[in-house]
Amino acid sequence: MTDFKNEYCMHTATCGELRRSDVGREVVLTGWAWHNRDHGGLIFCDLRDRDGYTQVVVDPDCVSAADFKTAEHLGREYVLKVAGTVRERGADAVNPNMATGEIEVLASAVEVLNTSVTPPFSIEDGIETDETMRMKWRYMDIRRPEMYAALKLRHTVAQAMRAALNARGFLEIETPILANSTPEGARDYIVPSRPNPGKFYALPQSPQQFKQMLMCAGVERYYQIARCFRDEDLRADRQPEFTQVDIEMSFVEGYDVVDMMEGVMAEVLTAAGVEQQFPLLRMPYAEAMDRFGCDRPDIRFGMELVNITDIVKNTGFKVFASVAQSGGVVKAINAKGAGDWSRGDVEKLASIAEENGAKGMAWVAFTTDGQEKSPIKKFFTDEEWAALKAAMAVEPGDLLLFAADKPAVANAVLSALRLTMADRLNIPREGHALLWVVDFPMFKYDEEEKKYAAEHHPFTHMYERDLDKIEDAPLECLSYAYDLVMDGFEVGGGSIRIHDAAEQRRVLRRCGVSDEEIDVKFAHLLHALELGAPPHGGIALGLDRLVMLLAGKQSIRDVIAFPKTSSASDPMTGAPNQVTARQLKEVSLRTL
Ligand code: AMO
Ligand code: AMP
Repeated sequence: MTDFKNEYCMHTATCGELRRSDVGREVVLTGWAWHNRDHGGLIFCDLRDRDGYTQVVVDPDCVSAADFKTAEHLGREYVLKVAGTVRERGADAVNPNMATGEIEVLASAVEVLNTSVTPPFSIEDGIETDETMRMKWRYMDIRRPEMYAALKLRHTVAQAMRAALNARGFLEIETPILANSTPEGARDYIVPSRPNPGKFYALPQSPQQFKQMLMCAGVERYYQIARCFRDEDLRADRQPEFTQVDIEMSFVEGYDVVDMMEGVMAEVLTAAGVEQQFPLLRMPYAEAMDRFGCDRPDIRFGMELVNITDIVKNTGFKVFASVAQSGGVVKAINAKGAGDWSRGDVEKLASIAEENGAKGMAWVAFTTDGQEKSPIKKFFTDEEWAALKAAMAVEPGDLLLFAADKPAVANAVLSALRLTMADRLNIPREGHALLWVVDFPMFKYDEEEKKYAAEHHPFTHMYERDLDKIEDAPLECLSYAYDLVMDGFEVGGGSIRIHDAAEQRRVLRRCGVSDEEIDVKFAHLLHALELGAPPHGGIALGLDRLVMLLAGKQSIRDVIAFPKTSSASDPMTGAPNQVTARQLKEVSLRTL
């Protein structure tokens, strides 16, 4: 393929490409003046572009007097065009940390294409700059090599996704942004419709309904790099608008989509330079909850949850005994290496447990010098104590943390403590760990709304053997839903869909949707299912999360060109903005 990167532009080489083999070449470089130094009559400037940086030397004997004067007055971030000759650096000037560190360009002409006022912060990698500042001056932030590299990696991943899906016969099809509400579980962003006063579009939380319609239309294999909008509380791995690689295919059943995606992921990870063994582990949801307390386990380290309910069910420690005897569970983790922590430091962990719903956090410390410290040891018989130590494989230096509660609470508490302890104890979590979590429950009980809701979404097909439990034992129903988990993050989720109208109606009803509402909101879906819908299923990968992990970043904001703050605003453009009274009137709205 022709490399056009130095054509149709002012430069003949980029600032990152010149090597010793280019010595003697006449080149024109363009870029930003990064570090400018005056070394006794010679001016040195590191010229930076998106590709890297090259040291330019301006010698008064090799340029016109006017150009030398220009070089003497370069400011940071000035935009330059430099003509010159590539030459080898002297042995003591070679910079092994720089791709172009063996050469420099001796300038024959220096032109300032544009000046710059003082930048709001230094264009350096690893700088400690307030994130709001970075967002306000985002174009300056993206000039930093590490930000550009993250966007480039995102491009590589997106292109690899496209290539892998194209090769498998998928069609890239766009679906509407001005859409209607889909029950993905978050609040909608709504847009007033001027020609329909009082009516609103909802921005899509995902293209879920449209992609199912495309299957009903016979498209058979669809994908889209789709922008999705969810008005939910923001965290480091959540943005109000984010990108999914959204995929759907027809005539699939069971784990066909999962099998297909393994091939896609293998190609994508290779393109991103990551080695990964396939096939991936497939862990049933129940096992993930049991061993890790969550449905997106980070399996790069142990510290698994141990169920000690049987050991403590008759103990004199009433909290444990009563929970164990009333259908709850008592579980524990063993944080190896924290046995010598002070009582104060251990008890501070209780706040993490409480944030996750715990009523307390019992603990036992086994110090490295052989002591056993605990507020609860006195309640245990010798046999119970020995059984506990055996179950937890206790050694000197261990700290046991306990949660006694309903399974959901105990799991949430210990899952959070497990991750906190891994951070505090600097447990190595190098490399990546991908797995599938499968066999999700179809329904969950929403305590706040006092009703059942779909665990994934209400278009998910259930295990046929569980269909007759929808009405009476919904929590026992399992579904053909699967999540792709990487390093403790949910990077994708999908399912086989319902293609039978009667099953769809029963599931929606079980989720508390009335028949009237079903007929209004889901008429198009039910009609499509009645008009020869093929069996189908799919998945959506969170592109931002995947790239965040591949780039080794802590936040998806670092792999999104123009992200929003935690209050869903954009400090650069000022969005969201007020609109004029006239604009409001046009769409028949009034603000409170
Ligand atoms: P789900 O809601 O699981 O499934 O979303 C799929 C993937 O999208 C990513 N994701 C997000 N990323 C950043 N910010 C957010 N606010 C956010 N919310 C979700 C996650 C998640 O795994 N229609 C279904 C997919 C399907 O069934 O095919 C859906 O949207 O990585
Ligand atoms: P108490 O007897 O209530 O003072 O509790 C003794 C210890 O058990 C304290 O460390 C509490 O934090 C802890 N504790 C209380 N309730 C629970 C619970 N549900 N799960 C785990 N530990 C608990």
